[in-house]
Amino acid sequence: MGRTFFVGGNWKCNGTTEQVEKIVKTLNDGKITASNVETVVSPPYVFLPTVKASLRPEIQVAAQNCWVKKGGAFTGEVSAEMLANLGVPWVILGHSERRALLGESNEFVGDKVAYALAQGLKVIACVGETLEQREAGSTMEVVSAQTKAIADKITDWTNVVIAYEPVWAIGTGKVATPAQAQEVHANLREWLKTNVSPEVAETTRIIYGGSVTGASANELAAQPDVDGFLVGGASLKPEFIDIINAAS
Ligand code: G3H
Repeated sequence: MGRTFFVGGNWKCNGTTEQVEKIVKTLNDGKITASNVETVVSPPYVFLPTVKASLRPEIQVAAQNCWVKKGGAFTGEVSAEMLANLGVPWVILGHSERRALLGESNEFVGDKVAYALAQGLKVIACVGETLEQREAGSTMEVVSAQTKAIADKITDWTNVVIAYEPVWAIGTGKVATPAQAQEVHANLREWLKTNVSPEVAETTRIIYGGSVTGASANELAAQPDVDGFLVGGASLKPEFIDIINAAS
């Protein structure tokens, strides 16, 4: 069976109660024509329960992060157990904004992925190179090291989606070309085949993120190794529905 297309909307640190209500209404009223697509939106923590309760049932929710281990005396953190307790099925881990701004290392992200999976969460694990790394020709070295740090800590990939998000494409309006995305996705799949297993390589969804819009989604979605998207800015807009429908 083929890989189900996956579209995630990462709202990042955006939204007021009113804006969130408006986005939810747009999502609930939107005409989803794609039949084989899994859709997940990721509001800030404070809006998670309301969004989860008010969204149409076919759209799931994700947290944007969680703590690396069991909860306790970790001021400001939210644990994987809490998300599981609230019925939040997904969590985004290793986003480049957290890697860069909060110093999350490959190993720390690997530990987070393993812990979240062990608590029953599904994980959108982000990898991606900076512009300097791409220009230095080290894209695959970077994304394979990020993926290896996860592979070192987990054995079951069933509940993992890999999001390839080149840092230079995030929030810049400079989307990767379909060929650039396909090349990295195919190489990542090959890496999984060699270093994890052919079955994991075949079944794990590898989605693309970085300035995806309604206008760029169809051509990217047509690439054989692009299994969906992780969308930032455009997930706050009505065009997110068009991006979901790129799955058809
Ligand atoms: O998680 C989403 C990515 O960071 C992409 O964000 O679509 O605003 O470039 P963007």
